[in-house]
Amino acid sequence: MSEALATPSPELFDKVVNLCKRRGFVFPSAEIYGGFRSTYDYGPVGVLLLRNVKDAWWRSMVQLRRDIVGLDAAILSPPAVWEASGHLKNFTDPLVDCKVCRERFRLDKLDDPEVCPNCHSTHSFTEARHFNLMFKTYAGPVEGAGAEVYLRPETAQGMFTNFKNVLETSRKRPPFGIAQIGKSFRNEITPGNFVFRTREFEQMEMEYFVPPAEGPRWYEYWCEARMQWYLDLGMPAQLLRLRAHDEDELSHYSAGTSDVEFLFPWGWDELEGIANRTDYDLTQHASHSGENLAYFDQATGERYVPHVIEPAAGATRTAMAFLMAAYDEEEVAREGQGQGDVRTVLRLHPRIAPYKVAVLPLSKKPELSAPATEVLEALQPHFMCDYDETQAIGRRYRRQDELGTPFCVTVDFDTLQDRAVTVRDRDSMAQDRVAIDELLDHLRDRLGL
Ligand code: GAP
Repeated sequence: MSEALATPSPELFDKVVNLCKRRGFVFPSAEIYGGFRSTYDYGPVGVLLLRNVKDAWWRSMVQLRRDIVGLDAAILSPPAVWEASGHLKNFTDPLVDCKVCRERFRLDKLDDPEVCPNCHSTHSFTEARHFNLMFKTYAGPVEGAGAEVYLRPETAQGMFTNFKNVLETSRKRPPFGIAQIGKSFRNEITPGNFVFRTREFEQMEMEYFVPPAEGPRWYEYWCEARMQWYLDLGMPAQLLRLRAHDEDELSHYSAGTSDVEFLFPWGWDELEGIANRTDYDLTQHASHSGENLAYFDQATGERYVPHVIEPAAGATRTAMAFLMAAYDEEEVAREGQGQGDVRTVLRLHPRIAPYKVAVLPLSKKPELSAPATEVLEALQPHFMCDYDETQAIGRRYRRQDELGTPFCVTVDFDTLQDRAVTVRDRDSMAQDRVAIDELLDHLRDRLGL
C-alpha cells in the first residue's frame, strides 16, 4: 500500500467506487429502474469479498476458539424485544426539515446547525424531533395494532434473548460468547458515503458473557484482540486507530466503549465498536420477559447476572475499508513491452481476496483448453478460482490485479511439452515456472492460508 494513504485521500473514494462498478464488486440496487436510494447489490466479486470478510471474522471468533459459539437469529422480531432493549424509546436521531427546500437532515451531523447544506438558507430548520430508526412492518394479513413487527436494527438482541437456550445446550459457562453475522436494518436519515452508511447492512457481533468483576479485564482484552484482527489481515497500522469514547458519548448502559476507526477518504470513521454493556441487556430482558437470566456457578455457589463485552463490527463497511486500504496505483513497464504504464492493483490479503488464483490459457486454441481445464479442476476444490481465456494476456493480468487475485497461472504452448505452467505474483509481477504436479502445494505455501 502506498505511503500517501496515511492522510485522507478524497480522490481515493471515487477511484474505489468506480472500480467497484467496473469490475463487479458493488452495483446500485434496482439500477435499471433508476436505482433505489442508498441500497447496493454485491456483484460476482463483491459477494466473494464480503463472504471472505465474514468468514475471516467467523474463523477468528468461532472456529479458532473454544469459548464462543454461533447463532443465526430471526430478523423479524416482536415489539417486546425492542421495548426491553430500549430501542423503541431511545433508538432515535434528531431530525430537522428545511422549511425552504424541504430536505431533511440529521441535526447532529450538520456542519452548521443554522445553515441548510442543500439550499444554504439560514434559520430555516424546524424544531428537531426524535426520529426512530427502526423499520416497522406487519406480520400476517391484517395491518394494524397488534400485528406490528420490526426488522432488527442490530443482531445483538437475538444473542441476549437466546442466552438461556445457548447456556443450557452448549455446555458453556462464563466467560463465554455468542457470535452472529447477519443483516440489520436502520432507516438512516442521511445514508451515504457509498456502502459506509446504508439502510440495509450486515453486522458481525459477538456478546461475551463474563462474571461482573471480570468486565474491565475482558473489555481491554477484546479491544486489543479486535485491533489485531484487522492488522493480521493486512490493514496498515497507520490507517487504524482505537478511540475511547468520552464520558458524554457513552450510552447510558455502557461502562466503556472504544471504536476501531479507519482513515477513510473523508477522515477517521468507525468500523467497529467494542462496548462494556454491563448487565444492562440481560437485566432488561429478565425483567420484561419474567425469565430468570442469572447464572448459577455451581463451583463457587455464586449467582449473578453476567456482564457483557460486545465487539460489534459492520461487515459491509469493513469490506469497503479493506478495498480502500488495498487500492494502489503504480507505474510499471508494460509487461512484455517496456513502455511506461500505470497499473491499478488491489493488494488484498489472500484470505480477503475474492479469487485466490486465476487460470489463464495463453490463447483460446483448443489444444490449451484441455491442460487449462485440468489445472482449473485440480485447484477449484481448494481455492476460489477465476478462469479467463479472452483478450491479450497482459490485459488479463491487469484485470486480475484490479480484482486483487494473488496469483495468475498461465497455461501456454510449452505446457504441452513440459507439463509446467507460469505462476505470476500479483504484487511483484515476478513469474516462476512450476510443474503442474507441484502446483497445488506451491500455491498453498505461497498463499499461506
Ligand atoms: N449492537 C451494537 C451496535 O449495533 P453500532 O455501533 O450501532 O453498535 C455496530 O453498530 C457496527 O455496525 C458499526 O460499527 C458499523 O460498522 C455497522 N453499522 C451500523 N450502522 C450502519 C449503517 N447504517 N450502515 C453500515 N454499517 C453500519
